[in-house]
Amino acid sequence: MHEVLLTSLELITTLYLLCFIFVRQQEKAMLEIKPFLEKALRETYTNQLPRTMVVADLGCSSGPNTLRFVSEVIDAIARHCKKLTQRNDHVQLQFFLNDLPGNDFNSLFRLFEQFRKLKAKNHMGEALPPYYICGLPGSYYTRLFPCQSVHLFHSLFCLHWRSQAPQGMEGTGKTPQDERDIYITKTSSPSVVKLFQEQFRKDFSLFLKLRYEELVVDGQMVLTFIGKKNEDVLGGDSNHHLYGLLAQSLQSLVEKGLVQKEKLESFYVPVYSPSVHEVEEVVKQSGLFDINHLQFFETNWDPYDDDLESDVLHDSVQSGENVAKCLRAVMESLVASHFGDTILDMLFAEYAGRVAKHLTEDKIKHAIIVVSLKKVF
Ligand SMILES: C[S@@+](CC[C@H](N)C(=O)[O-])C[C@H]1O[C@@H](n2cnc3c(N)ncnc32)[C@H](O)[C@@H]1O
Repeated sequence: MHEVLLTSLELITTLYLLCFIFVRQQEKAMLEIKPFLEKALRETYTNQLPRTMVVADLGCSSGPNTLRFVSEVIDAIARHCKKLTQRNDHVQLQFFLNDLPGNDFNSLFRLFEQFRKLKAKNHMGEALPPYYICGLPGSYYTRLFPCQSVHLFHSLFCLHWRSQAPQGMEGTGKTPQDERDIYITKTSSPSVVKLFQEQFRKDFSLFLKLRYEELVVDGQMVLTFIGKKNEDVLGGDSNHHLYGLLAQSLQSLVEKGLVQKEKLESFYVPVYSPSVHEVEEVVKQSGLFDINHLQFFETNWDPYDDDLESDVLHDSVQSGENVAKCLRAVMESLVASHFGDTILDMLFAEYAGRVAKHLTEDKIKHAIIVVSLKKVF
């Protein structure tokens, strides 16, 4: 098993060098969720013994993490077939890689060409289950598949994104501080907090209903996203600090006359990081899934800082830049479409400085929620 993991890691590392994408946070999470993924695959396969196993990665992006996922699934199914003394070609794997239509699917398909060659080479002629890959553009807040056609859904670092920013902020009695915020902060008014929470409940309930319809009987999902460690809505959320610092950076550009005040006042980030309890509540209320597993783990904000024990930073300036690069990768297009792209370099340089200062005072961590669900009969 260890050997196969190493093979997988080597393979993905080689592909990393080919595509230079900043994905270390997700890479670390993938190692944490591997046991749950493997268990979900084994159970679904054993219960259904499908000739074609359909697996979907929702919010795949165009970097190597989706390749890591595909590689893990192929290896896990190959190992499981061996245990069941089945030939590997007894099952064929059909992968659907989903993201929004603006995703760079072409880059992903090019990476897959290299992936195929490296995978075959690394397994040195050993037969793997035949696998087929397609891109699937569309929002996972809509139906993506025919009824009862998917065996396993996976999603990594996506489901904290809402379908839209909360609507109806006007007339909620927003305070002047709310006007400058772009996400929930310590001083947010209860009405603003409620709108973010309602958006989460609405989106997550819809997501569960859609996937329920698309999963086969016994189908499973392994979902990993940024959450919060405790129930404190006004302070217990690392996104609260992450986006609070971005709001402060935008405010400093307002003060320099580079961003219009009204533009900042109408900008909200379409995210919400739920607690484990909030996730559990929506799943239970839906009545559509049994919870196999629900937990959280932590990672440092700086994806290159693996030291979870110590509160000491080795290089705050470098950590600030690393965090700013990560956030820029996910926020750039949203910020550019609202404020224009001329502010990007300045904004994220300002942001890196603020993050560096914040981390020296509080080496904050992301709380990552992993939930493994099984469709109820
Ligand atoms: C931080 S990236 C994670 C990418 C990849 N799963 C990984 O771990 O490297 C989040 C991805 O979710 C996608 N996404 C966000 N909302 C989505 C939606 N409603 N439907 C499909 N994809 C979505 C984004 O386009 C983006 O590629």
